Amino acid sequence: MVYIPPSHTDRAAEVGLKRRQPDLSRHLSAEARARLPNPIKSIWKAAQVKPGTINMGNGDPHHTLYPVSEMNFIVPSIDEHDPVQAWREGTGEQQIIASYKDEPCALSLRTAMAYGAGSGLQHVREALANLNDRIHAPPKHTVSLSLGNADALTKCFRLLGDPGDSFLCEEFTFSAMTNAALPLGIDWVPIRMDKDGLVPSDMERILSNWNEAVQGKRPHVLYTIPCSQNPTGSTLSLERRRQIYQIARDWDVIILEDDPYFFLQYDLDVRPSTIEQYGFTRAMAEVLPRSFLSMDYDGRVMRLDSFSKILAPGMRLGWVTSNDFLAEKLDMLTDSSSQHPHGLGQAFIAELLGNQGWGVDGFMKWVNSLCREYERRRNLFMEVFRREVSSTGLASAEVPQSGMFVWIKVNLDRHTRYRVMETSTVPGGPISNTAELMDELFRKLLDCGLVMMPASTFAIVDRTGRATNDSHIADRVNYFRATFVGTDETIENGLTIFGRGLEEFFCY
Ligand SMILES: Cc1ncc(COP(=O)(O)O)c(C=O)c1O
Repeated sequence: MVYIPPSHTDRAAEVGLKRRQPDLSRHLSAEARARLPNPIKSIWKAAQVKPGTINMGNGDPHHTLYPVSEMNFIVPSIDEHDPVQAWREGTGEQQIIASYKDEPCALSLRTAMAYGAGSGLQHVREALANLNDRIHAPPKHTVSLSLGNADALTKCFRLLGDPGDSFLCEEFTFSAMTNAALPLGIDWVPIRMDKDGLVPSDMERILSNWNEAVQGKRPHVLYTIPCSQNPTGSTLSLERRRQIYQIARDWDVIILEDDPYFFLQYDLDVRPSTIEQYGFTRAMAEVLPRSFLSMDYDGRVMRLDSFSKILAPGMRLGWVTSNDFLAEKLDMLTDSSSQHPHGLGQAFIAELLGNQGWGVDGFMKWVNSLCREYERRRNLFMEVFRREVSSTGLASAEVPQSGMFVWIKVNLDRHTRYRVMETSTVPGGPISNTAELMDELFRKLLDCGLVMMPASTFAIVDRTGRATNDSHIADRVNYFRATFVGTDETIENGLTIFGRGLEEFFCY
């Protein structure tokens, strides 16, 4: 079968959507509405339009005085059959990718090292827009670079959130980010999850039962991690994504699609014939999950991608794909704060994705090879887990389809000191001693030399640091987040300690 990427019209028909662009201005925070463009950047942008324009306006140091003329990176050769394995084993060829100030290359260091625009350098944005088009085929969207998803998210919170606003999110989530929104006066409303992630009917329940007179403005933003949800490791099915997008349309909600694990998918049926005929990008596009962005006819999705998990977290580079209106507001924020992502990283990405580097297809070959290595580690983790942990009957885990995390359920109800009461002393508070026992177990494992992330770390809290008052979340924190990205030895030793620690804790 030949893969023909669905056109935008086909996709609109598929999800039963009519083309329309809602007015998104109501979603902007007071800060975003009040922000004026950085006037110097506006003139700088005008100076870029006509080549050869003499710019005597900007305080940009002259490129002849930059103390660097060339930058070389040694990277794995992408011609290897399995580049990640060859790189790990040290058996593969290497490739040098170079950026120059005064010689031809994809992105001259003259440009990369100069001041730029908040959205990032055109060259890099185009390469990423090309990748986006081939993977998501998004209806009319713009790419802006970020310093990774943490940077992008915190900017999006400022762009969309006013003090007193409520945003929706998964009930266990990447608290580093949700906590960052609390000082802005944003409250989080947790949506229930099951083993397959966010439950759409609970999102609908929250929005339809919302009483603005009592609860304030109805939530107008959903923050979600659709692939390898951090911490639960769940990946949303296509059916759920469609339902969530439809609910977002019905209630006019913006979706912040934080997807740093999108490219790390396992058990993929990538077809060798497609690779041979059309290359890795199309072969991967056929089997990667459908993003919210790919369904986004309203321009209500801000999709956040990052190089952190597929190249290296210290790169501090990512990209935001959003509707032109929101992209412009985001770029204005960047123009007047961090200015733009660093030139060295942008130069590296430009060369890596360019003709002298891996190219976009080579990059996707790397991603494909990386998936196979992480899939091997996940399989090893699950095998050792079955042997050392599940066999005790004291904990269990689902096999994650993507990303880096396994969400381990501890069967606390088998503990002799586990207690459940009729009612809680605090409205919405705990009716069991789950949180205390998990805290004890965490400390015991730490004494044994093992750290697992307790679920309580990821439970949504309010601005005082307490659990939101109608969630009974403390009764559902009998989970640990563990990662399988480490070495085989770490996996073997860590899970052996875990199994024994559990047995001692349960006094078997
Ligand atoms: C769900 C999620 N969002 C955002 C981030 C931050 O990513 P970045 O390194 O791109 O800032 C992480 C990192 O672990 C994450 O798990």
